[in-house]
Amino acid sequence: MDFSEEIKKRAKKIEKELETYINTEEVPEKKLNEAVIYSLMSGGKRIRPILMLEAFKLFAKRKEEIMPYAVAMEMLHNFSLIHDDLPGIDNDDFRHGKPTNHKMFGESTAILAGDSLFNKSYLVIAQSLIKETNKNKVEAFYEFSKAADRMIVGEYVDTDFEGKPISAEYLEYIHKNKTAALIVASIRIGAIIAGAPVQDLEKLTKYAEKIGIAFQIRDDILSEIGDEKILGKPVGNDVKRKKSTYVTKYGLETAKNILHTTTKEAVEIVETYGEKGKFLKELAIFIENREK
Ligand code: IPE
Ligand code: IPE
Ligand code: MG
Ligand code: MG
Repeated sequence: MDFSEEIKKRAKKIEKELETYINTEEVPEKKLNEAVIYSLMSGGKRIRPILMLEAFKLFAKRKEEIMPYAVAMEMLHNFSLIHDDLPGIDNDDFRHGKPTNHKMFGESTAILAGDSLFNKSYLVIAQSLIKETNKNKVEAFYEFSKAADRMIVGEYVDTDFEGKPISAEYLEYIHKNKTAALIVASIRIGAIIAGAPVQDLEKLTKYAEKIGIAFQIRDDILSEIGDEKILGKPVGNDVKRKKSTYVTKYGLETAKNILHTTTKEAVEIVETYGEKGKFLKELAIFIENREK
C-alpha cells in the first residue's frame, strides 16, 4: 500500500473514534456544538493521533487504552487551529478548503468553540481516568498538559515577533513550542502508556522533536510556494503578516536544506528499530514532502 493511502486509512480510524464524541442534540448551545464539529471533522490529516497510536504499537497491543488520549490530542490541536486563524492572531479566512471557523460562525462563537474543544480535550482524558490505577496514564495526562502550555507559549512568541527581527534561537523556540510540543507529546504519551523503557522514550523524543520542527519548516515553505487548492489554506499569508519563519529568515533554499537535514536526522534515529521503525521513518519523509 502506498504510504499516503496508509495514512488515510489510519486517519479514518481516528475519525470514527472522534465521531463518538460529537453532540448533535437539540440544546440551546447547538450552534456552538456545530462550530466544534465543523472544525473537528473538517478533514485534518490526524498526524498527531496517528503518531501516538504508532508509538504505542511499538511497545504494546491494547489499542483501546490509548484512544481517549488520541481523541484529546486531536481536540487540542483543532482548538489551536481555530484560535490561530482568528483576526487577532493570524487573521486567516480559509482552512481545509473552507471558510475558517470565525468566517463561518462569527468571532464570538469561534472563540468559544476553541475554548470548548480545549476543555473537552481535558474532559475526555479526565473521564477515562476516573477508575484508573495505572500511573503511566496519569503521567501521560501531565505530558498532555505540559504540551498544551508550550503550544500556547509558542503561539504567543510567534505573534509577538510579527514584523520584528528574530534570532535563530528564538525562531527555533517558536517552532519547538507552537508545533513540536504537541507532536512530541503525542509520541511520548503513546510510548509512556505502553510502558516503553526509558532509553526508548528518550530516543523517540529526539525523533519527535526533529519531525516536529520539520513539520513547521514544511508549513513555512508551503505558505510560500504551496498550491492553495491542495493546501486548503492561504499561501502568502506569512509574508503578508510579516511572520518570522524559516523561509523569511533564511530564504527558501536554506529552509529546504535545514528541513532535509532535520528529516535525515529523524530517519536515522528510527532506523535503529529496523522493520519495526519503518512507519515512523516513512512518516518523517512524508512530512518533509507533504503538499498539504
Ligand atoms: C497545521 O497542522 C498547524 C501546524 C502546526 C503547522 P496540520 O497540518 O497537522 O493540520 P491538519 O489538522 O492536518 O489540518
Ligand atoms: C500553527 O502555526 C501552530 C498552531 C496552531 C499551534 P501556523 O499559523 O504557522 O499554521 P497554519 O499555517 O495557520 O496552519
Ligand atoms: Mg500562526
Ligand atoms: Mg496560522
